[in-house]
Amino acid sequence: MSQQPPTILVTGGAGYIGSHTVLALQNAGYRVVVLDNLVYGHRDLAEQVLGVDLIVGHTSDRALLDRLFQTYSIEAVMHFAAYAYVGESVENPAKYYENNVVGTLALLEAMVAANVNKLVFSSTCATYGIPTTVPIPEDHPQHPINPYGNSKWMVERILGDFDTAYGLKSVCFRYFNAAGADPQGRLGEDHTPETHLIPLVLFAALGIRDSVSIFGSDYPTYDGTCVRDYIHVSDLADAHVLGLAYLRQQETSNVFNLGNGNGFSVRQVIDTAKQVTGVDLTVKSSDRRPGDPPMLVGSASKAKEILNWQPQYADLQSIIAHAWQWHQKRHSALAASTGKT
Ligand SMILES: NC(=O)c1ccc[n+]([C@@H]2O[C@H](COP(=O)([O-])OP(=O)(O)OC[C@H]3O[C@@H](n4cnc5c(N)ncnc54)[C@H](O)[C@@H]3O)[C@@H](O)[C@H]2O)c1
Repeated sequence: MSQQPPTILVTGGAGYIGSHTVLALQNAGYRVVVLDNLVYGHRDLAEQVLGVDLIVGHTSDRALLDRLFQTYSIEAVMHFAAYAYVGESVENPAKYYENNVVGTLALLEAMVAANVNKLVFSSTCATYGIPTTVPIPEDHPQHPINPYGNSKWMVERILGDFDTAYGLKSVCFRYFNAAGADPQGRLGEDHTPETHLIPLVLFAALGIRDSVSIFGSDYPTYDGTCVRDYIHVSDLADAHVLGLAYLRQQETSNVFNLGNGNGFSVRQVIDTAKQVTGVDLTVKSSDRRPGDPPMLVGSASKAKEILNWQPQYADLQSIIAHAWQWHQKRHSALAASTGKT
């Protein structure tokens, strides 16, 4: 009798990082069920590209979760579902605590009730706040400076308590800036509104935006613009498969940064995008934005050492080239479907 592959529940699996991780899980031989309320996710990516069972619903819907755990024999959960707009979280903190904390609590309670004791959680470098050491190690103090970062920090604490009380084991991944797209062009980033630098620069190359803005050119960095750690989304996805294997083998909780280890400045991103796209972008200089640290770069040596994680696309050229391939394809598909060119 052939053995069924383990089934993994992926919340937020119709979103950007979740969908790439579903693909990586499928390639590693897992069966995947996606729970996504489609507030920001894309049905076409989940159903047509990935061909998964998509359950449209909210992580707070306990009755739905109980049914889901009864229907499928879930071995572990990967939890991407959250809101992730920092600015919005400052204006509307309740929305973030409700979705990111209360929604996660309902999911964790349903897991405990269903005896599912493995979770991979999407945390963030925003839990560190303003760094005092760069590259930031995992034991750097966590002092988030906005409700989004607080909400993720709270879930990390809750996971520690659920491990103690119920033996629920978790791997928390603190991502730096997810970027790029599936190298084969099947998946990519499609956020509305979009706030991330690389897609915004590529929207300017596509003519969807007039120009690219640089917020602050007088930071104490090598070219005066902010430096961020861009990590390829397919490398992030691979790390999740390794994190799951770690939980299945070690049965212990842990926390890992997932970043590039190399920072890239805003100006470097724009210059590389100009090379990749061949478009001479219009660049505007603006004032600094409050709360933007000069440099946010993580140390990912722990994930490399313990999980044996080897990022494949650490260079900015590949990250932007893959994103460009995706945005061109997605934009022309959307334009064709709306009759606009
Ligand atoms: N993108 C980044 O650079 C980055 C960096 C650090 C951390 N993260 C975290 O990674 C995760 C995924 O980020 P992303 O960029 O893929 O975002 P995304 O918005 O593309 O994906 C999140 C998905 O979750 C769904 N969702 C949200 N709340 C839900 C709920 N309560 N129930 C069911 N579905 C829900 C959305 O519809 C969406 O499809 C988030 O938790 C985010 O906080 C992202």
